[in-house]
Amino acid sequence: IPLAGVIGNPISQSRSPVMHRHWLRRYDLRGDYVPLHVASQDLKDVVRTLPRMGFVGANVTIPHKTEVLKFVDHVSDRATLIGAANTLIFREDGKIHADNTDGYGFMANLRHGAPGWDPKDGPAVILGAGGAARAIIVALADAGVPQILLANRTRAKSEALKAEFGQRIVVVDWVQAGTVLGDAALLINTTSLGMTGQPELRVSLDHLRPSTIVTDIVYNPLQTDLLQRAADRGCETVDGLGMLLYQGVPGFERWFGRRPEVDEALRAAVL
Ligand code: ATR
Repeated sequence: IPLAGVIGNPISQSRSPVMHRHWLRRYDLRGDYVPLHVASQDLKDVVRTLPRMGFVGANVTIPHKTEVLKFVDHVSDRATLIGAANTLIFREDGKIHADNTDGYGFMANLRHGAPGWDPKDGPAVILGAGGAARAIIVALADAGVPQILLANRTRAKSEALKAEFGQRIVVVDWVQAGTVLGDAALLINTTSLGMTGQPELRVSLDHLRPSTIVTDIVYNPLQTDLLQRAADRGCETVDGLGMLLYQGVPGFERWFGRRPEVDEALRAAVL
């Protein structure tokens, strides 16, 4: 039977097995999807061996998303640009193809959650400059967002992203983030702040307009303090769970031959 899985370390927290197994059951497809706990020194061997064990593909998560690019035969333009892959396809000819669907997941979640949003509506403010921010910057630039205001605790990381992704990015000091929110058509938290067990995001929303759409990549809790405070100001909000769910869609379709749906039953199964 066709197998897929998610490669990471740690891996027990991953919701991907629940999600893909839900889809396999729902569409009555042959296959399985397993968590794969893999140490960095074993990554190459595992990736090269899985196709010979009945695997049709795999997801890749922390800390292997960048390293894995070295061990595959073909990397999509998107994954190259982002510098990380989250989806591997083991082709019939034995070649391993790496792609990154995080940006797709982010955009699909945003478009479903806030159908009125148009990339041309105005600048996006991104909080954070880590791996998630990279994928989101690429996706937003691709969609035609005119300007991206980027604020990160470590300013040098925002500067590095500006150097890499260009003029569209304006670097904002972390402590100044609140003051630029009045310009935002879209506000995105890509930091881990607000996640259960982490400190809250302390950015002031005093300047935030009610027409600004606010989204968070944190989905535990679903309603983060940021989303709650934004909703209290009258903003439309989009929670982060959908990004996780939609990023799994392209892989599942390639591996198991059916494009799966993201719906309430899936959200309930994964939460
Ligand atoms: P991911 O791949 O999920 O983006 P990451 O690359 O580790 O994870 O990035 C985490 C992001 O959260 C970074 O932008 C980080 O800021 P720094 O670059 O300054 O480290 C941000 N972050 C994490 N903890 C933070 C905190 N306590 N205050 C502010 N930002 C924080």
